Amino acid sequence: MDASDWNARYDTSELIWKGEPNQFLPPEVADLTPGTAVDLACGEGRNAVWLAKKGWTATGVDFSDVGVEKGRKLAAENGVDATWVVADVTTWEPPVDGFDLVAVFYLQLGAEERRASMITAVRALGVGGTLVLVGHDLLNLTEGYGGPQNPAFLLTAEDILDDLTAAEVLLDVELVTEKSGRVERSVTTDDGERTAIDTLVRVRRVA
Ligand SMILES: C[S@@+](CC[C@H](N)C(=O)[O-])C[C@H]1O[C@@H](n2cnc3c(N)ncnc32)[C@H](O)[C@@H]1O
Repeated sequence: MDASDWNARYDTSELIWKGEPNQFLPPEVADLTPGTAVDLACGEGRNAVWLAKKGWTATGVDFSDVGVEKGRKLAAENGVDATWVVADVTTWEPPVDGFDLVAVFYLQLGAEERRASMITAVRALGVGGTLVLVGHDLLNLTEGYGGPQNPAFLLTAEDILDDLTAAEVLLDVELVTEKSGRVERSVTTDDGERTAIDTLVRVRRVA
């Protein structure tokens, strides 16, 4: 889906992803001191707004201007400030001062663009900073609920670790993997609770 497809999807008064953070974000940042954070592919801003409420200086980046505008509105409704950027995360050039936290949640790209987005994510990361990625795992296609049905837009922790290794070489940085694997997410449906299978990768930049 390109930016105009996402704009069409977001062009409703309701929030598609609701106003609450993804369930994996709060536990993954619980042990971090709030600093600067960027949410790449922030959509309607649920995660960036939650980070701002928790004391982070948050930035949300997405190529859907309709999504970003909803993020801006959600921040105002929650009484917090955040910086909003309309940009393609495969080419976005982050500010030179690295962020303390880079979040990437459910960005659905083919392999080449996914790698470019991971290079952006590492470029955005300051020394000592943490990168948290959550995405739809390939296994979800056969064993999980919902999510994209085209395998080209699904991923594995190994895919992400390969992308991050490429980014380390390209950008001459060093990352330490803190978590990498599959996690289960509960989804409430009209037919009861279902389980979706996600990938979660968390790394820290040490040099
Ligand atoms: C499934 S939504 C997830 C939104 C948000 N991360 C969340 O979890 O609520 C995927 C988002 O990725 C954005 N996106 C896809 N490709 C992008 C790109 N190349 N650059 C910036 N944003 C992109 C879409 O506009 C959409 O908002």
